[in-house]
Amino acid sequence: MSDVMQSTRFTNQTLANRFALAPMTRISAEPNGTPNDIMADHYEAYAKGGFGLLITEGTYTDDGASQGYANQPGIINDAQIEGWKAIVNRVHAAGSKIFVQLMHAGAQVQANQYTNQPAAPQRSQTQGRATRFLWRSDGMADAKDHDHSGHPVRDQRVCPVGGQCQSRRI
Ligand SMILES: Cc1cc2nc3c(=O)[nH]c(=O)nc-3n(C[C@H](O)[C@H](O)[C@H](O)COP(=O)(O)O)c2cc1C
Repeated sequence: MSDVMQSTRFTNQTLANRFALAPMTRISAEPNGTPNDIMADHYEAYAKGGFGLLITEGTYTDDGASQGYANQPGIINDAQIEGWKAIVNRVHAAGSKIFVQLMHAGAQVQANQYTNQPAAPQRSQTQGRATRFLWRSDGMADAKDHDHSGHPVRDQRVCPVGGQCQSRRI
């Protein structure tokens, strides 16, 4: 365990320890893809919690087909870059490093504000139906409007920040 807690070099960075936050989609950026205080609070909490390295949620890289879902952060314009700088500054102030995960949605796109034409290496579409993600004031929710057989379902799963997920009938 002591090795895990010790400072280490990674690429050209020195990390406080070997604990790293895996990249996790959060759908909490502004609708135009600008990183905001909700995101800064989230990443700062992990930094203050002692993680040596944070890897961000997947972040889109162009105003073409790379965005994959609503409220995903981008890193393609001044406002988005400034939003990320604020997050980076807070994470650094708390003693952690942060790497941005660059992502292209490919055929998995659910929502894209720039184009309705997916761009992917192969023409075949993915099977099934994407879950609709919603952002609510009481946490992150997904509402499944159809099951795998195409039958409508009305269960909503709500995961409050820091709390247990619960299924609700809607
Ligand atoms: C809610 C959620 C969102 C995720 N979003 C991303 C993502 O944006 N990019 C990515 O590469 N992996 C994403 N993952 C995968 C995680 O980074 C991780 O690889 C996965 O949870 C398996 O971790 P484990 O090997 O520690 O079990 C996500 C996982 C979860 C649970």
